[in-house]
Amino acid sequence: MLESLNNFQETTMARKIFSGSSTVFLVLLTIGSFFGTYNLITMVMHNKTLNPRGLFNDLNYMMPDNMKRSTGTKALFHVALTATDEPYSKWQSRIMYYWYKRMKNVDGSEMGNFTRILHSGRSDNLMDEIPTFVVDPLPSDRGYIVLNRPWAFVQWLESATIEEEYIFMAEPDHIFVNPLPNLASGIVPAGFGFDYILASKNEKIIRKYFPEENGPVTNVDPIGNSPVIIRKDLLKKIAPTWMNVSIRMKDDPETDKAFGWVLEMYGYAVASALHGVKHILREDFMLEPPWNLQVGKRFIIHYTYGCDYNMKGELTYGTTGEWSFDKRSYSKGPPPRNLSMPPPGVPESVVTLVKMVNEATANIPNWDTE
Ligand SMILES: *[C@@H]1O[C@H](CO)[C@@H](O)[C@H](O)[C@H]1NC(C)=O
Ligand SMILES: *[C@@H]1O[C@H](CO)[C@@H](O)[C@H](O)[C@H]1NC(C)=O
Ligand SMILES: *[C@@H]1O[C@H](CO)[C@@H](O)[C@H](O)[C@H]1NC(C)=O
Repeated sequence: MLESLNNFQETTMARKIFSGSSTVFLVLLTIGSFFGTYNLITMVMHNKTLNPRGLFNDLNYMMPDNMKRSTGTKALFHVALTATDEPYSKWQSRIMYYWYKRMKNVDGSEMGNFTRILHSGRSDNLMDEIPTFVVDPLPSDRGYIVLNRPWAFVQWLESATIEEEYIFMAEPDHIFVNPLPNLASGIVPAGFGFDYILASKNEKIIRKYFPEENGPVTNVDPIGNSPVIIRKDLLKKIAPTWMNVSIRMKDDPETDKAFGWVLEMYGYAVASALHGVKHILREDFMLEPPWNLQVGKRFIIHYTYGCDYNMKGELTYGTTGEWSFDKRSYSKGPPPRNLSMPPPGVPESVVTLVKMVNEATANIPNWDTE
């Protein structure tokens, strides 16, 4: 349990660092020494010269949402949340499901039903609160708990009855802040571009799994499996490959070292490319406080980064703030109800996040039980 939490922390730290704004870069220089194995400094310095927007392909702007819906019919997607029975996963899943229910029937939503795919191998005390499908964990996750995700999807897609034609792969730290439409366009799935998933910067390693006959490594999208909206039949093809590729990557020391805690994201990116699947990259899929300041028209708040501020409302990223909201502060149990609001000057995205967490915890019965 402790080990997997640390793993999550490292993943998030790696993601933070890779998310590469120049502010982060300064923080990074002071903590970079912790991450020798990742060779982060080199990568981030490289990253710094990249405009992250450059990674978002133009389809973003060329494909209007409603292109596929000229008939006015909805293309419902099933919300599939992979989760564990650890307290840390549970409280986030409860908030996630609360906001799903609040947004499901709001105009513009194409959300269908919801399943928490619980990959702990046994039911837990949330079975009545959240629609849940229990699947087995891997015999060995190699100390990397998210390696269970592809296997969880394989099992669920094989044995569950899913009416919707599309699947949205979600994570517990997602909050629906606007009603989510189906961002996929027919057979073309939609994902979110992460500026730290860079196949072309890891060509030698990527080629171990994506041989030349599959085309250039730029065919590998800068994405993870979440958030992604994809047609069910495509995901059924990709999921077993995703599982195989992720396990092979994890068992290869060079790959494991190079990709660290974002390995499983590369696993999905490579697996989908092996099936010839490219994703529309939607920058408006998510926002990530504290880096994105406004919610705007984005659909999901992804609260993977700590939000730390002093009382003047200045970001103190990397140092616990006088005011703080960081999911990792609640690794052993849920945050209390009615968290204090941030001081004046803190970005609207962070204020909205705390309000939404508070609304959920105020309304979820027996919030403090787990
Ligand atoms: C959603 O679930 C309900 C029952 O929980 C079921 O009646 C309905 O058919 C499902 N809808 C879809 C689109 O799967
Ligand atoms: C996954 O790997 C196993 C064992 O190597 C193999 O039998 C299976 O065919 C592979 N499946 C896919 C979809 O790659
Ligand atoms: C929440 O906390 C604030 C102080 O931070 C307090 O004024 C308010 O009454 C509390 N609300 C509830 C519902 O407990």
